[in-house]
Amino acid sequence: MHSNQSIGFLVAALLFSARTIYSLTFAVPSSPPSNASGTLDSAPVGVSFEFFAFSAYMQDVAATNVCLSNLKKAMGTAVPIRIGGTTQDRATYDPSLSTAVNYSVASSTDAPDSLTFGPSFMQIASSYDGSVTLGLDRRLNSISNTIAAAKVAVSVIPNLYALELGNEPNFFVSSDPIANGSSWTAAADASSQVSWQESVATALDKESIIQAGVFFGTGSFSVEELVAKEGASASYVRSFSEHYYPQSGSTANLTDLMSHSSIVSGVSAFEDDINAASSLDKPFVFGETNSATQGGGGISPTYGAALWILDYVMQAVILGAKQLFFHQGTIGNCQYCWWGNYTMGAPYYGAYMAALSLNGASRIAPLDSGTTPYAAYAIYQNDTVSRILLYNSDYYSSGTRSGVNFTLAGLSTSSSSSTVTAVRLTGDKATARIDQGGIVTVAGQTFENGTCTIQGHKVVEDVDVGENGETVVSVGAAEAVLVYL
Ligand SMILES: *[C@@H]1O[C@H](CO)[C@@H](O)[C@H](O)[C@H]1NC(C)=O
Ligand SMILES: *[C@@H]1O[C@H](CO)[C@@H](O)[C@H](O)[C@H]1NC(C)=O
Ligand SMILES: *[C@@H]1O[C@H](CO)[C@@H](O)[C@H](O)[C@H]1NC(C)=O
Ligand SMILES: *[C@@H]1O[C@H](CO)[C@@H](O)[C@H](O)[C@H]1NC(C)=O
Ligand SMILES: *[C@@H]1O[C@H](CO)[C@@H](O)[C@H](O)[C@H]1NC(C)=O
Ligand SMILES: *[C@@H]1O[C@H](CO)[C@@H](O)[C@H](O)[C@H]1NC(C)=O
Ligand SMILES: *[C@@H]1O[C@H](CO)[C@@H](O)[C@H](O)[C@H]1NC(C)=O
Ligand SMILES: *[C@@H]1O[C@H](CO)[C@@H](O)[C@H](O)[C@H]1NC(C)=O
Repeated sequence: MHSNQSIGFLVAALLFSARTIYSLTFAVPSSPPSNASGTLDSAPVGVSFEFFAFSAYMQDVAATNVCLSNLKKAMGTAVPIRIGGTTQDRATYDPSLSTAVNYSVASSTDAPDSLTFGPSFMQIASSYDGSVTLGLDRRLNSISNTIAAAKVAVSVIPNLYALELGNEPNFFVSSDPIANGSSWTAAADASSQVSWQESVATALDKESIIQAGVFFGTGSFSVEELVAKEGASASYVRSFSEHYYPQSGSTANLTDLMSHSSIVSGVSAFEDDINAASSLDKPFVFGETNSATQGGGGISPTYGAALWILDYVMQAVILGAKQLFFHQGTIGNCQYCWWGNYTMGAPYYGAYMAALSLNGASRIAPLDSGTTPYAAYAIYQNDTVSRILLYNSDYYSSGTRSGVNFTLAGLSTSSSSSTVTAVRLTGDKATARIDQGGIVTVAGQTFENGTCTIQGHKVVEDVDVGENGETVVSVGAAEAVLVYL
Protein backbone atom coordinates (compact mmCIF):
# COMPACT_ATOMS: atom_id res chain seq x y z
CA MET A 1 0.00 0.00 0.00
CA HIS A 2 2.56 2.47 1.22
CA SER A 3 5.16 1.49 -1.39
CA ASN A 4 2.56 1.55 -4.18
CA GLN A 5 1.76 5.10 -3.20
CA SER A 6 5.47 6.02 -3.31
CA ILE A 7 5.80 4.48 -6.74
CA GLY A 8 2.77 6.48 -7.82
CA PHE A 9 4.43 9.67 -6.62
CA LEU A 10 7.71 8.70 -8.22
CA VAL A 11 6.04 8.04 -11.58
CA ALA A 12 4.18 11.34 -11.35
CA ALA A 13 7.40 13.17 -10.48
CA LEU A 14 9.25 11.54 -13.37
CA LEU A 15 6.48 12.37 -15.83
CA PHE A 16 6.41 15.94 -14.60
CA SER A 17 10.16 16.41 -14.86
CA ALA A 18 10.24 14.64 -18.22
CA ARG A 19 7.88 17.33 -19.44
CA THR A 20 9.82 20.27 -18.08
CA ILE A 21 13.34 19.10 -18.92
CA TYR A 22 12.23 17.46 -22.16
CA SER A 23 15.39 17.09 -24.21
CA LEU A 24 15.23 19.28 -27.27
CA THR A 25 18.60 18.61 -28.81
CA PHE A 26 18.72 18.30 -32.56
CA ALA A 27 21.72 17.45 -34.70
CA VAL A 28 21.48 19.61 -37.80
CA PRO A 29 22.37 17.66 -40.97
CA SER A 30 24.45 19.86 -43.28
CA SER A 31 22.80 18.32 -46.36
CA PRO A 32 19.21 17.05 -46.66
CA PRO A 33 18.56 13.89 -44.62
CA SER A 34 16.48 10.97 -45.91
CA ASN A 35 13.20 12.38 -44.57
CA ALA A 36 13.67 15.79 -46.24
CA SER A 37 11.06 17.10 -48.68
CA GLY A 38 11.46 16.88 -52.42
CA THR A 39 12.45 19.98 -54.35
CA LEU A 40 10.30 22.89 -53.20
CA ASP A 41 8.38 25.30 -55.38
CA SER A 42 9.79 28.84 -55.32
CA ALA A 43 6.45 30.21 -54.06
CA PRO A 44 4.76 27.80 -51.67
CA VAL A 45 2.64 30.45 -49.89
CA GLY A 46 -0.33 31.50 -52.02
CA VAL A 47 -3.59 33.41 -51.66
CA SER A 48 -7.08 32.38 -52.80
CA PHE A 49 -9.64 35.13 -53.44
CA GLU A 50 -13.35 34.35 -53.29
CA PHE A 51 -14.49 34.73 -56.91
CA PHE A 52 -17.04 37.53 -56.53
CA ALA A 53 -14.78 39.56 -54.20
CA PHE A 54 -11.58 39.36 -56.31
CA SER A 55 -11.98 42.61 -58.24
CA ALA A 56 -12.93 44.54 -55.08
CA TYR A 57 -9.87 43.17 -53.24
CA MET A 58 -7.65 44.33 -56.09
CA GLN A 59 -9.28 47.70 -56.71
CA ASP A 60 -11.02 48.85 -53.52
CA VAL A 61 -8.83 47.53 -50.68
CA ALA A 62 -5.60 49.50 -50.37
CA ALA A 63 -3.82 46.85 -48.26
CA THR A 64 -4.07 44.13 -50.93
CA ASN A 65 -1.20 45.16 -53.17
CA VAL A 66 1.09 46.01 -50.25
CA CYS A 67 0.33 42.78 -48.39
CA LEU A 68 1.04 40.76 -51.54
CA SER A 69 4.20 42.70 -52.24
CA ASN A 70 5.50 42.27 -48.65
CA LEU A 71 5.08 38.52 -49.08
CA LYS A 72 6.81 38.63 -52.46
CA LYS A 73 9.84 40.34 -50.90
CA ALA A 74 9.87 37.88 -48.01
CA MET A 75 9.50 34.78 -50.21
CA GLY A 76 11.61 35.99 -53.15
CA THR A 77 8.89 35.15 -55.70
CA ALA A 78 5.46 36.69 -56.30
CA VAL A 79 2.64 35.04 -54.39
CA PRO A 80 0.60 32.70 -56.61
CA ILE A 81 -3.11 33.48 -56.53
CA ARG A 82 -6.21 31.41 -57.14
CA ILE A 83 -9.53 33.09 -57.86
CA GLY A 84 -12.46 30.86 -56.98
CA GLY A 85 -14.69 29.43 -54.28
CA THR A 86 -18.40 28.85 -53.89
CA THR A 87 -19.29 31.86 -56.05
CA GLN A 88 -17.28 30.57 -59.06
CA ASP A 89 -20.11 28.03 -59.40
CA ARG A 90 -22.71 30.81 -59.34
CA ALA A 91 -20.99 32.95 -61.97
CA THR A 92 -21.85 33.42 -65.65
CA TYR A 93 -19.51 35.14 -68.10
CA ASP A 94 -21.04 38.15 -69.87
CA PRO A 95 -18.78 39.44 -72.65
CA SER A 96 -20.74 42.71 -72.81
CA LEU A 97 -20.57 43.55 -69.10
CA SER A 98 -18.72 46.82 -68.61
CA THR A 99 -17.87 46.24 -64.92
CA ALA A 100 -15.72 43.37 -63.58
CA VAL A 101 -18.65 41.78 -61.73
CA ASN A 102 -22.37 42.44 -61.35
CA TYR A 103 -24.60 41.14 -58.60
CA SER A 104 -26.95 42.34 -55.94
CA VAL A 105 -27.00 41.36 -52.28
CA ALA A 106 -29.32 42.29 -49.42
CA SER A 107 -26.36 43.20 -47.18
CA SER A 108 -22.74 44.01 -48.01
CA THR A 109 -21.71 41.13 -45.77
CA ASP A 110 -23.51 38.57 -47.97
CA ALA A 111 -22.05 36.59 -50.85
CA PRO A 112 -24.25 36.71 -53.98
CA ASP A 113 -26.42 33.75 -54.98
CA SER A 114 -25.82 34.60 -58.61
CA LEU A 115 -23.47 36.91 -60.50
CA THR A 116 -22.07 37.81 -63.88
CA PHE A 117 -18.50 38.78 -64.70
CA GLY A 118 -17.04 40.52 -67.71
CA PRO A 119 -13.83 41.09 -69.68
CA SER A 120 -12.46 43.60 -67.16
CA PHE A 121 -12.43 40.84 -64.52
CA MET A 122 -9.88 39.07 -66.74
CA GLN A 123 -7.97 42.33 -67.27
CA ILE A 124 -7.54 42.75 -63.51
CA ALA A 125 -6.28 39.16 -63.24
CA SER A 126 -3.93 39.77 -66.19
CA SER A 127 -2.19 42.67 -64.45
CA TYR A 128 -1.11 40.54 -61.47
CA ASP A 129 2.59 39.66 -61.56
CA GLY A 130 2.36 36.20 -59.96
CA SER A 131 0.78 33.05 -61.34
CA VAL A 132 -3.02 32.97 -61.56
CA THR A 133 -5.35 29.98 -61.27
CA LEU A 134 -8.91 30.84 -62.25
CA GLY A 135 -11.96 28.90 -61.07
CA LEU A 136 -14.85 28.64 -63.53
CA ASP A 137 -18.35 27.20 -63.23
CA ARG A 138 -19.40 23.59 -63.70
CA ARG A 139 -22.36 23.36 -61.31
CA LEU A 140 -24.64 25.45 -63.56
CA ASN A 141 -23.85 23.02 -66.41
CA SER A 142 -23.39 25.72 -68.99
CA ILE A 143 -20.29 24.40 -70.69
CA SER A 144 -20.41 26.78 -73.64
CA ASN A 145 -20.31 29.74 -71.24
CA THR A 146 -17.42 28.21 -69.30
CA ILE A 147 -15.54 27.64 -72.57
CA ALA A 148 -16.18 31.26 -73.64
CA ALA A 149 -14.72 32.49 -70.33
CA ALA A 150 -11.81 30.04 -70.56
CA LYS A 151 -10.89 31.31 -74.03
CA VAL A 152 -10.71 34.90 -72.79
CA ALA A 153 -8.69 33.85 -69.72
CA VAL A 154 -6.16 31.97 -71.84
CA SER A 155 -5.76 34.84 -74.27
CA VAL A 156 -5.47 37.74 -71.78
CA ILE A 157 -3.86 36.36 -68.59
CA PRO A 158 -0.16 35.89 -69.37
CA ASN A 159 0.56 34.19 -66.05
CA LEU A 160 -2.41 31.82 -66.20
CA TYR A 161 -1.40 28.59 -64.46
CA ALA A 162 -4.62 26.59 -64.67
CA LEU A 163 -8.42 26.72 -64.84
CA GLU A 164 -10.70 24.95 -62.38
CA LEU A 165 -14.00 23.45 -63.54
CA GLY A 166 -16.29 23.65 -60.51
CA ASN A 167 -15.63 24.19 -56.82
CA GLU A 168 -16.06 21.55 -54.09
CA PRO A 169 -18.26 19.27 -56.21
CA ASN A 170 -18.68 17.00 -53.19
CA PHE A 171 -21.36 19.51 -52.16
CA PHE A 172 -23.24 19.44 -55.49
CA VAL A 173 -26.79 18.09 -55.13
CA SER A 174 -29.28 16.41 -57.44
CA SER A 175 -31.15 19.69 -58.01
CA ASP A 176 -28.01 21.38 -59.36
CA PRO A 177 -28.22 21.70 -63.15
CA ILE A 178 -25.07 19.56 -63.63
CA ALA A 179 -26.72 16.63 -61.83
CA ASN A 180 -29.75 16.63 -64.15
CA GLY A 181 -31.94 15.29 -61.34
CA SER A 182 -29.75 12.31 -60.48
CA SER A 183 -27.97 11.86 -57.18
CA TRP A 184 -24.47 13.35 -57.34
CA THR A 185 -21.91 10.70 -56.45
CA ALA A 186 -18.12 10.57 -56.53
CA ALA A 187 -18.36 8.38 -59.63
CA ALA A 188 -20.75 10.81 -61.36
CA ASP A 189 -18.44 13.69 -60.50
CA ALA A 190 -15.31 11.92 -61.75
CA SER A 191 -16.94 11.13 -65.08
CA SER A 192 -18.19 14.74 -65.34
CA GLN A 193 -14.73 16.16 -64.50
CA VAL A 194 -13.00 13.95 -67.06
CA SER A 195 -15.51 14.83 -69.78
CA TRP A 196 -15.37 18.59 -69.03
CA GLN A 197 -11.58 18.52 -69.01
CA GLU A 198 -11.60 17.08 -72.50
CA SER A 199 -14.26 19.46 -73.84
CA VAL A 200 -12.68 22.60 -72.38
CA ALA A 201 -9.05 21.74 -73.15
CA THR A 202 -9.94 20.65 -76.68
CA ALA A 203 -11.83 23.91 -77.27
CA LEU A 204 -8.74 25.79 -76.02
CA ASP A 205 -6.43 23.53 -78.02
CA LYS A 206 -4.28 23.16 -74.91
CA GLU A 207 -2.90 20.38 -72.75
CA SER A 208 -1.96 20.71 -69.07
CA ILE A 209 -4.45 23.52 -68.38
CA ILE A 210 -6.94 22.18 -65.80
CA GLN A 211 -6.64 22.19 -62.02
CA ALA A 212 -8.70 19.08 -61.25
CA GLY A 213 -10.39 17.71 -58.17
CA VAL A 214 -11.06 20.90 -56.17
CA PHE A 215 -12.67 18.77 -53.47
CA PHE A 216 -13.42 19.89 -49.92
CA GLY A 217 -11.19 17.65 -47.81
CA THR A 218 -10.52 14.06 -48.67
CA GLY A 219 -13.19 11.40 -48.44
CA SER A 220 -15.30 9.51 -50.95
CA PHE A 221 -14.69 12.36 -53.40
CA SER A 222 -10.91 12.46 -53.54
CA VAL A 223 -7.98 13.12 -55.82
CA GLU A 224 -7.00 9.47 -55.42
CA GLU A 225 -10.42 8.39 -56.68
CA LEU A 226 -10.34 10.91 -59.57
CA VAL A 227 -6.80 9.99 -60.60
CA ALA A 228 -7.94 6.39 -61.07
CA LYS A 229 -10.60 7.60 -63.56
CA GLU A 230 -8.51 10.12 -65.54
CA GLY A 231 -7.31 7.88 -68.35
CA ALA A 232 -6.38 9.86 -71.46
CA SER A 233 -7.82 13.08 -69.99
CA ALA A 234 -4.84 13.21 -67.62
CA SER A 235 -2.96 15.05 -70.36
CA TYR A 236 -5.35 18.01 -69.94
CA VAL A 237 -4.65 18.23 -66.19
CA ARG A 238 -1.96 20.56 -64.89
CA SER A 239 -2.49 20.00 -61.16
CA PHE A 240 -4.84 18.46 -58.59
CA SER A 241 -6.38 20.42 -55.74
CA GLU A 242 -8.09 19.77 -52.44
CA HIS A 243 -9.36 22.21 -49.85
CA TYR A 244 -8.54 21.95 -46.17
CA TYR A 245 -10.12 23.65 -43.17
CA PRO A 246 -8.94 21.74 -40.08
CA GLN A 247 -11.54 23.22 -37.75
CA SER A 248 -15.17 24.04 -38.05
CA GLY A 249 -17.83 26.23 -36.50
CA SER A 250 -18.51 26.22 -32.81
CA THR A 251 -16.39 23.13 -32.08
CA ALA A 252 -13.22 24.90 -33.27
CA ASN A 253 -10.40 24.79 -30.74
CA LEU A 254 -7.35 27.06 -30.89
CA THR A 255 -5.15 24.79 -28.73
CA ASP A 256 -5.70 21.99 -31.23
CA LEU A 257 -5.39 24.23 -34.28
CA MET A 258 -1.89 25.42 -33.34
CA SER A 259 -0.67 22.12 -31.84
CA HIS A 260 2.32 20.81 -33.76
CA SER A 261 1.37 17.15 -33.40
CA SER A 262 -2.24 17.89 -34.48
CA ILE A 263 -0.95 19.75 -37.53
CA VAL A 264 1.30 16.81 -38.46
CA SER A 265 -1.51 14.28 -38.15
CA GLY A 266 -4.10 16.53 -39.86
CA VAL A 267 -1.93 17.10 -42.92
CA SER A 268 -0.97 13.43 -43.15
CA ALA A 269 -4.59 12.61 -44.13
CA PHE A 270 -3.75 14.05 -47.57
CA GLU A 271 -0.75 11.81 -48.18
CA ASP A 272 -2.54 9.28 -50.42
CA ASP A 273 -3.99 12.07 -52.57
CA ILE A 274 -0.62 13.80 -52.92
CA ASN A 275 0.93 10.46 -53.92
CA ALA A 276 -1.90 9.76 -56.39
CA ALA A 277 -1.31 13.14 -58.10
CA SER A 278 2.38 12.43 -58.19
CA SER A 279 1.78 9.01 -59.77
CA LEU A 280 0.56 11.01 -62.80
CA ASP A 281 3.51 13.40 -62.45
CA LYS A 282 1.17 16.23 -61.47
CA PRO A 283 1.55 18.62 -58.56
CA PHE A 284 -0.95 18.63 -55.68
CA VAL A 285 -2.00 21.95 -54.15
CA PHE A 286 -4.08 22.91 -51.17
CA GLY A 287 -6.02 25.11 -53.61
CA GLU A 288 -8.20 26.71 -50.93
CA THR A 289 -7.46 26.49 -47.24
CA ASN A 290 -7.84 28.30 -43.97
CA SER A 291 -8.18 27.67 -40.28
CA ALA A 292 -11.88 27.11 -39.72
CA THR A 293 -15.16 27.18 -41.57
CA GLN A 294 -17.98 29.45 -40.32
CA GLY A 295 -15.54 31.78 -38.58
CA GLY A 296 -14.36 29.06 -36.24
CA GLY A 297 -16.08 30.39 -33.15
CA GLY A 298 -13.63 33.27 -32.96
CA ILE A 299 -10.34 31.37 -33.32
CA SER A 300 -9.73 32.32 -36.95
CA PRO A 301 -8.60 35.95 -36.43
CA THR A 302 -6.07 35.10 -33.73
CA TYR A 303 -2.32 35.00 -33.46
CA GLY A 304 -2.59 31.26 -32.72
CA ALA A 305 -3.95 30.88 -36.27
CA ALA A 306 -0.76 32.62 -37.51
CA LEU A 307 1.29 29.93 -35.77
CA TRP A 308 -0.92 27.27 -37.38
CA ILE A 309 -0.20 28.73 -40.85
CA LEU A 310 3.55 28.67 -40.25
CA ASP A 311 3.72 25.05 -39.11
CA TYR A 312 1.07 23.84 -41.58
CA VAL A 313 2.93 25.28 -44.57
CA MET A 314 6.09 23.42 -43.52
CA GLN A 315 4.28 20.11 -43.00
CA ALA A 316 2.36 20.42 -46.28
CA VAL A 317 5.48 20.99 -48.37
CA ILE A 318 7.34 18.19 -46.59
CA LEU A 319 4.48 15.85 -47.52
CA GLY A 320 4.86 16.96 -51.15
CA ALA A 321 2.23 19.68 -51.69
CA LYS A 322 3.47 22.31 -54.15
CA GLN A 323 1.56 25.30 -52.80
CA LEU A 324 -1.12 26.39 -50.34
CA PHE A 325 -3.70 29.06 -51.22
CA PHE A 326 -5.11 30.71 -48.08
CA HIS A 327 -8.66 31.83 -48.72
CA GLN A 328 -9.80 35.45 -48.44
CA GLY A 329 -13.58 35.71 -48.35
CA THR A 330 -16.22 38.43 -48.25
CA ILE A 331 -14.57 41.77 -47.51
CA GLY A 332 -15.79 42.97 -44.11
CA ASN A 333 -17.18 39.55 -43.14
CA CYS A 334 -14.21 37.23 -43.01
CA GLN A 335 -12.71 36.00 -39.76
CA TYR A 336 -9.68 34.24 -41.21
CA CYS A 337 -8.72 36.94 -43.70
CA TRP A 338 -5.16 38.23 -43.64
CA TRP A 339 -6.16 41.87 -44.18
CA GLY A 340 -9.25 43.96 -44.67
CA ASN A 341 -10.08 47.53 -45.54
CA TYR A 342 -9.47 48.78 -42.01
CA THR A 343 -7.45 46.34 -39.88
CA MET A 344 -4.83 43.68 -40.35
CA GLY A 345 -5.49 40.04 -39.50
CA ALA A 346 -3.04 38.37 -37.10
CA PRO A 347 -2.78 35.26 -39.35
CA TYR A 348 -0.90 37.35 -41.96
CA TYR A 349 2.11 37.37 -39.63
CA GLY A 350 2.35 33.58 -39.84
CA ALA A 351 2.24 33.70 -43.63
CA TYR A 352 4.99 36.32 -43.62
CA MET A 353 7.17 34.17 -41.34
CA ALA A 354 6.54 31.13 -43.57
CA ALA A 355 7.56 33.19 -46.62
CA LEU A 356 10.77 34.35 -44.89
CA SER A 357 11.53 30.78 -43.87
CA LEU A 358 11.17 29.33 -47.37
CA ASN A 359 12.82 32.17 -49.35
CA GLY A 360 14.98 30.50 -51.99
CA ALA A 361 14.74 27.16 -50.20
CA SER A 362 15.40 24.01 -52.19
CA ARG A 363 14.31 21.51 -49.52
CA ILE A 364 13.18 21.31 -45.89
CA ALA A 365 13.53 18.51 -43.36
CA PRO A 366 11.78 17.81 -40.06
CA LEU A 367 14.32 17.31 -37.26
CA ASP A 368 11.68 16.38 -34.65
CA SER A 369 9.45 13.31 -34.62
CA GLY A 370 6.19 15.22 -35.13
CA THR A 371 4.70 13.83 -31.93
CA THR A 372 5.58 16.58 -29.42
CA PRO A 373 4.55 20.24 -29.17
CA TYR A 374 8.02 21.33 -30.36
CA ALA A 375 9.00 21.54 -34.03
CA ALA A 376 12.44 21.99 -35.55
CA TYR A 377 13.04 22.24 -39.28
CA ALA A 378 16.29 22.42 -41.23
CA ILE A 379 15.90 24.51 -44.38
CA TYR A 380 18.26 23.99 -47.30
CA GLN A 381 19.27 26.31 -50.10
CA ASN A 382 20.83 24.51 -52.99
CA ASP A 383 20.92 21.51 -50.64
CA THR A 384 23.17 23.20 -48.08
CA VAL A 385 21.62 23.94 -44.70
CA SER A 386 20.96 27.66 -44.41
CA ARG A 387 18.26 28.19 -41.78
CA ILE A 388 16.60 26.48 -38.84
CA LEU A 389 12.96 27.13 -37.98
CA LEU A 390 11.89 26.39 -34.40
CA TYR A 391 8.29 26.36 -33.17
CA ASN A 392 7.01 25.97 -29.61
CA SER A 393 3.30 25.15 -29.98
CA ASP A 394 2.48 25.22 -26.26
CA TYR A 395 -0.72 27.23 -25.87
CA TYR A 396 -0.41 30.52 -24.00
CA SER A 397 -3.24 32.85 -23.04
CA SER A 398 -2.42 34.39 -19.66
CA GLY A 399 -0.16 34.24 -16.60
CA THR A 400 3.50 33.23 -16.69
CA ARG A 401 4.65 32.30 -20.16
CA SER A 402 6.63 29.05 -20.25
CA GLY A 403 9.40 28.43 -22.72
CA VAL A 404 11.74 25.77 -23.99
CA ASN A 405 15.40 25.79 -25.00
CA PHE A 406 16.26 24.12 -28.27
CA THR A 407 19.86 22.90 -28.49
CA LEU A 408 21.12 22.73 -32.05
CA ALA A 409 24.23 20.66 -32.61
CA GLY A 410 26.60 20.08 -35.49
CA LEU A 411 26.59 23.65 -36.76
CA SER A 412 29.55 24.90 -38.66
CA THR A 413 29.86 28.66 -38.84
CA SER A 414 32.37 30.53 -40.93
CA SER A 415 35.69 30.78 -39.06
CA SER A 416 35.42 34.57 -38.74
CA SER A 417 32.24 34.39 -36.68
CA SER A 418 30.77 32.31 -33.90
CA THR A 419 27.52 34.25 -33.96
CA VAL A 420 24.51 33.65 -36.13
CA THR A 421 21.31 35.70 -36.31
CA ALA A 422 17.65 35.00 -35.71
CA VAL A 423 14.24 36.63 -36.07
CA ARG A 424 11.24 35.89 -33.87
CA LEU A 425 7.49 35.64 -34.44
CA THR A 426 5.68 36.51 -31.23
CA GLY A 427 2.43 37.94 -29.93
CA ASP A 428 0.76 38.94 -26.67
CA LYS A 429 -0.96 35.57 -26.37
CA ALA A 430 -2.39 32.91 -28.65
CA THR A 431 -5.80 34.59 -28.58
CA ALA A 432 -4.46 38.06 -29.57
CA ARG A 433 -6.46 39.77 -32.35
CA ILE A 434 -5.15 42.85 -34.16
CA ASP A 435 -8.70 44.22 -34.56
CA GLN A 436 -9.07 44.13 -30.78
CA GLY A 437 -5.78 45.91 -30.05
CA GLY A 438 -3.64 42.76 -29.74
CA ILE A 439 0.04 43.02 -30.67
CA VAL A 440 1.83 40.54 -32.92
CA THR A 441 5.35 41.14 -34.25
CA VAL A 442 7.66 39.44 -36.71
CA ALA A 443 11.33 40.45 -36.40
CA GLY A 444 9.99 43.16 -34.07
CA GLN A 445 7.92 44.75 -36.84
CA THR A 446 4.21 45.16 -37.46
CA PHE A 447 2.00 45.78 -40.50
CA GLU A 448 -0.08 48.94 -40.41
CA ASN A 449 -3.85 48.67 -40.19
CA GLY A 450 -5.46 49.66 -43.48
CA THR A 451 -2.25 49.85 -45.55
CA CYS A 452 -0.18 46.73 -44.66
CA THR A 453 2.97 48.88 -44.65
CA ILE A 454 5.78 47.43 -42.51
CA GLN A 455 6.28 49.53 -39.37
CA GLY A 456 9.14 49.79 -36.89
CA HIS A 457 12.79 48.76 -36.91
CA LYS A 458 13.74 45.23 -37.75
CA VAL A 459 14.96 43.33 -34.66
CA VAL A 460 17.62 40.73 -35.39
CA GLU A 461 18.83 38.64 -32.45
CA ASP A 462 22.40 37.40 -32.10
CA VAL A 463 22.78 33.71 -31.32
CA ASP A 464 26.18 32.49 -30.09
CA VAL A 465 27.52 29.21 -31.42
CA GLY A 466 30.06 27.42 -29.21
CA GLU A 467 33.34 25.99 -30.48
CA ASN A 468 31.65 22.59 -30.28
CA GLY A 469 29.19 23.73 -32.96
CA GLU A 470 26.27 23.91 -30.49
CA THR A 471 23.87 26.69 -29.75
CA VAL A 472 20.83 27.12 -27.52
CA VAL A 473 17.77 29.05 -28.68
CA SER A 474 14.96 29.95 -26.27
CA VAL A 475 11.47 29.84 -27.70
CA GLY A 476 8.53 30.93 -25.56
CA ALA A 477 5.16 29.19 -25.54
CA ALA A 478 3.33 30.14 -28.75
CA GLU A 479 6.42 31.53 -30.46
CA ALA A 480 8.62 30.67 -33.43
CA VAL A 481 12.21 31.59 -34.21
CA LEU A 482 13.99 31.51 -37.56
CA VAL A 483 17.77 31.09 -37.20
CA TYR A 484 19.94 32.14 -40.15
CA LEU A 485 23.11 30.02 -40.26
C1 LIG B 1 -12.47 50.55 -48.52
O1 LIG B 1 -12.36 51.87 -48.07
C2 LIG B 1 -12.27 52.83 -49.12
C3 LIG B 1 -11.99 54.18 -48.51
O2 LIG B 1 -12.81 54.40 -47.41
C4 LIG B 1 -13.55 52.79 -49.93
O3 LIG B 1 -13.45 53.67 -51.01
C5 LIG B 1 -13.74 51.38 -50.47
O4 LIG B 1 -14.97 51.27 -51.15
C6 LIG B 1 -13.72 50.36 -49.35
N1 LIG B 1 -13.71 49.04 -49.94
C7 LIG B 1 -14.59 48.12 -49.61
C8 LIG B 1 -14.46 46.83 -50.34
O5 LIG B 1 -15.45 48.29 -48.76
C1 LIG C 1 -26.75 43.71 -62.76
O1 LIG C 1 -27.48 42.79 -61.98
C2 LIG C 1 -28.81 43.24 -61.68
C3 LIG C 1 -29.46 42.17 -60.81
O2 LIG C 1 -28.63 41.76 -59.81
C4 LIG C 1 -29.60 43.46 -62.94
O3 LIG C 1 -30.85 43.96 -62.61
C5 LIG C 1 -28.84 44.41 -63.85
O4 LIG C 1 -29.51 44.50 -65.11
C6 LIG C 1 -27.44 43.93 -64.09
N1 LIG C 1 -26.70 44.91 -64.84
C7 LIG C 1 -26.04 44.60 -65.95
C8 LIG C 1 -25.30 45.73 -66.62
O5 LIG C 1 -26.00 43.47 -66.39
C1 LIG D 1 -31.31 14.63 -68.24
O1 LIG D 1 -32.32 13.79 -67.81
C2 LIG D 1 -33.36 13.62 -68.78
C3 LIG D 1 -34.53 12.86 -68.15
O2 LIG D 1 -34.07 11.94 -67.23
C4 LIG D 1 -32.78 12.92 -70.00
O3 LIG D 1 -33.77 12.78 -70.99
C5 LIG D 1 -31.65 13.78 -70.55
O4 LIG D 1 -31.01 13.12 -71.62
C6 LIG D 1 -30.64 14.07 -69.47
N1 LIG D 1 -29.70 15.05 -69.99
C7 LIG D 1 -28.39 14.88 -69.89
C8 LIG D 1 -27.54 16.01 -70.42
O5 LIG D 1 -27.87 13.90 -69.39
C1 LIG E 1 -9.37 22.70 -26.58
O1 LIG E 1 -8.76 21.43 -26.52
C2 LIG E 1 -7.90 21.27 -25.38
C3 LIG E 1 -7.23 19.92 -25.51
O2 LIG E 1 -6.61 19.79 -26.73
C4 LIG E 1 -8.69 21.38 -24.11
O3 LIG E 1 -7.83 21.31 -23.01
C5 LIG E 1 -9.41 22.73 -24.09
O4 LIG E 1 -10.26 22.80 -22.99
C6 LIG E 1 -10.23 22.94 -25.36
N1 LIG E 1 -10.72 24.31 -25.36
C7 LIG E 1 -11.97 24.61 -25.58
C8 LIG E 1 -12.31 26.06 -25.58
O5 LIG E 1 -12.81 23.76 -25.81
C1 LIG F 1 13.49 12.84 -39.56
O1 LIG F 1 14.80 12.33 -39.44
C2 LIG F 1 15.47 12.73 -38.26
C3 LIG F 1 16.89 12.21 -38.37
O2 LIG F 1 17.55 12.91 -39.42
C4 LIG F 1 14.75 12.16 -37.06
O3 LIG F 1 15.40 12.54 -35.87
C5 LIG F 1 13.34 12.72 -37.05
O4 LIG F 1 12.60 12.17 -35.99
C6 LIG F 1 12.65 12.38 -38.36
N1 LIG F 1 11.34 13.05 -38.34
C7 LIG F 1 10.32 12.62 -39.03
C8 LIG F 1 9.03 13.33 -38.87
O5 LIG F 1 10.41 11.69 -39.82
C1 LIG G 1 24.23 25.11 -56.40
O1 LIG G 1 25.45 24.47 -56.17
C2 LIG G 1 26.12 24.03 -57.34
C3 LIG G 1 27.35 23.20 -56.95
O2 LIG G 1 28.00 23.82 -55.89
C4 LIG G 1 26.47 25.26 -58.18
O3 LIG G 1 27.09 24.86 -59.37
C5 LIG G 1 25.18 26.02 -58.50
O4 LIG G 1 25.47 27.20 -59.17
C6 LIG G 1 24.41 26.36 -57.23
N1 LIG G 1 23.13 26.91 -57.58
C7 LIG G 1 22.60 27.96 -56.98
C8 LIG G 1 21.25 28.36 -57.43
O5 LIG G 1 23.18 28.56 -56.08
C1 LIG H 1 17.03 28.30 -21.16
O1 LIG H 1 18.37 28.68 -21.08
C2 LIG H 1 18.55 29.89 -20.34
C3 LIG H 1 20.01 30.28 -20.47
O2 LIG H 1 20.82 29.19 -20.16
C4 LIG H 1 18.11 29.67 -18.91
O3 LIG H 1 18.24 30.87 -18.18
C5 LIG H 1 16.64 29.26 -18.92
O4 LIG H 1 16.23 28.93 -17.62
C6 LIG H 1 16.44 28.04 -19.80
N1 LIG H 1 15.00 27.82 -19.94
C7 LIG H 1 14.46 26.62 -19.79
C8 LIG H 1 12.97 26.55 -19.99
O5 LIG H 1 15.10 25.62 -19.54
C1 LIG I 1 -5.61 48.28 -35.46
O1 LIG I 1 -6.99 48.54 -35.40
C2 LIG I 1 -7.63 48.03 -34.23
C3 LIG I 1 -9.13 48.25 -34.37
O2 LIG I 1 -9.40 49.58 -34.60
C4 LIG I 1 -7.05 48.74 -33.03
O3 LIG I 1 -7.65 48.24 -31.85
C5 LIG I 1 -5.57 48.48 -32.97
O4 LIG I 1 -4.98 49.17 -31.91
C6 LIG I 1 -4.91 48.90 -34.29
N1 LIG I 1 -3.54 48.46 -34.25
C7 LIG I 1 -2.52 49.24 -34.55
C8 LIG I 1 -1.15 48.64 -34.45
O5 LIG I 1 -2.67 50.40 -34.90
